[in-house]
Amino acid sequence: MSGATVLDVGGGVGAIDLELLAAGAERATNVELSGGYEEAAAELLAERGLQGRVDRLVADFVSEPVEGHDVVVMHRVVCCYPDVDGLVGAAAARTRRRLLLTYPQERPWVRAGVRVINLGLRLFGSSFRTYVHPAARMVEAASAHGLELGERRRDGLVWESASFVRA
Ligand SMILES: C[S@@+](CC[C@H](N)C(=O)[O-])C[C@H]1O[C@@H](n2cnc3c(N)ncnc32)[C@H](O)[C@@H]1O
Repeated sequence: MSGATVLDVGGGVGAIDLELLAAGAERATNVELSGGYEEAAAELLAERGLQGRVDRLVADFVSEPVEGHDVVVMHRVVCCYPDVDGLVGAAAARTRRRLLLTYPQERPWVRAGVRVINLGLRLFGSSFRTYVHPAARMVEAASAHGLELGERRRDGLVWESASFVRA
């Protein structure tokens, strides 16, 4: 991680950016669709004196012209976006060395949970939906941009993580 640049897509408040900077990353860019995290994120950066090392953009990453970074992270983001090919493809295209994804496992109980969540969202009038995208589609989208699947592992009953490296 030493000296690496990090792109955190859908990074929320930026907790992962802070950890990776503490682990030796040089700079981080956080591209987040929602503007609701900005105040808390600014406070966290100020507390740690890291304002100069993190760029925060409020935008849809898929349509944002972001430059390439050494390490790209999408932690629990793919499940919040309908276009898995577009999102993973855009992340892979920006990856110089390593892409890290965490997403829901394709398991019956996860799909059932997602259906219940989406029903609740619909009942409350929200247009937001959650998704269980096939992992094979993510591998395909990453491969199309020259990345190879490295490690893949399940974290408990819901989440799965995969790392991809530039071939
Ligand atoms: C479940 S939250 C995870 C936040 C953070 N990565 C974490 O692990 O704590 C998913 C986030 O992804 C963001 N997101 C989803 N699609 C996005 C996109 N196309 N561009 C930027 N952010 C996106 C959402 O706004 C949301 O904040």
